[in-house]
Amino acid sequence: MEPCVIRVRVREGYDVVIGGGLLKDSGRLMRAALGSCRLIVVTDSNVAHLYLPTLLNSLAEAGYDACSYVFPAGEAHKRMDSLSGMLEFFAGQRLTRMDCVVALGGGVTGDMAGFAAGCYLRGVRYVQVPTTLLAAVDSSVGGKTAVDLAAGKNLAGLFHQPSMVICDTKTFETLTPDEFANGTAEAIKTGILDDETLFSVFELGDARANVKEIVAQCVAFKARIVEADETETGIRKTLNLGHTAGHAIEQCSGFSMPHGHAVAIGLAIIARAAERLGWAQVPIARRIEHALTRNGLPITTEFSPEALAEAALSDKKRAGGTITLVVPKQIGDCALIDIPVEQLLDVFRAGMEIVA
Ligand SMILES: NC(=O)c1ccc[n+]([C@@H]2O[C@H](COP(=O)([O-])OP(=O)(O)OC[C@H]3O[C@@H](n4cnc5c(N)ncnc54)[C@H](O)[C@@H]3O)[C@@H](O)[C@H]2O)c1
Ligand SMILES: [Zn+2]
Repeated sequence: MEPCVIRVRVREGYDVVIGGGLLKDSGRLMRAALGSCRLIVVTDSNVAHLYLPTLLNSLAEAGYDACSYVFPAGEAHKRMDSLSGMLEFFAGQRLTRMDCVVALGGGVTGDMAGFAAGCYLRGVRYVQVPTTLLAAVDSSVGGKTAVDLAAGKNLAGLFHQPSMVICDTKTFETLTPDEFANGTAEAIKTGILDDETLFSVFELGDARANVKEIVAQCVAFKARIVEADETETGIRKTLNLGHTAGHAIEQCSGFSMPHGHAVAIGLAIIARAAERLGWAQVPIARRIEHALTRNGLPITTEFSPEALAEAALSDKKRAGGTITLVVPKQIGDCALIDIPVEQLLDVFRAGMEIVA
């Protein structure tokens, strides 16, 4: 089957190529987009076993001189010392501004390799090769890069757009059901923001069987948003649907709950709140809850609305401040609503079925 190509038209535009089995063809695709240069592949210890040999073979076949840097897998390693290890490796390899970094893996790898590429020599090119559904539908497109600090997630980072994204949807076959569901949560979020066609795949269809179409529609949607608002001053904020409560749940769980699972609960909370507070058309909450549970995702939490509101507002303590909520009105239509921080607890209570 022909790969699907989506162009992201930011200042220096780039292609997102999506298809089953593309890893074997990635050397040729990169040569067409990058020309000749040296490549450093960054990947984590899990993905290195699964896909690094195939990628390195393909790069060698295309005539590339490539080496690899492997760091220990997991969010716990998305931090400054992994980043500095990466930068020292680039310098030791005498990577120049003409050369390019390749991020092979999930969102952790993409966020860190993108950050390293964005600051090494004040910016070298990088290619995203996402191997999780979450990275494919969300983090590999749009140029947000980051590492976590002790004080919180993604606190250090920069915007640096990739030069290309190559998404081999066959790599998702080795994801555990939980890791696949993590990505499904972000894709369901996109369905709520974008339209009925995508949303109905999660309501009625089989996500694994339709994965290429799901990735293509999510990437096309994200590309349009990023083109309109590259640095998140306006409409890009809508991509945070479900994330106010979601981030609070992640924080309350001490980050033991994976991001996608927390976002799923966050989507259910804001949908129920939107109905109760008269912002949304009924029955949006029931439809969203059904789509989430059908795809192996949770819709409730043990944490109290008070605990979530406190976590969500921990960096917004000042009285009189406002917080921007992304609120679903109907499938395919969401609004940004500014509320006083004092009202957030009532929103969470409404979304957690405790009438204030
Ligand atoms: N930059 C952005 O715009 C953006 C958007 C959303 C999320 N993120 C970030 O993305 C990260 C989460 O991404 P993630 O869920 O991909 O996490 P991840 O990169 O840690 O991958 C999850 C796990 O799956 C393993 N894995 C990766 N590909 C695999 C495959 N094909 N088969 C089997 N195992 C595989 C990894 O080794 C890891 O253990 C978070 O740090 C989050 O902050 C960034
Ligand atoms: Zn997210």
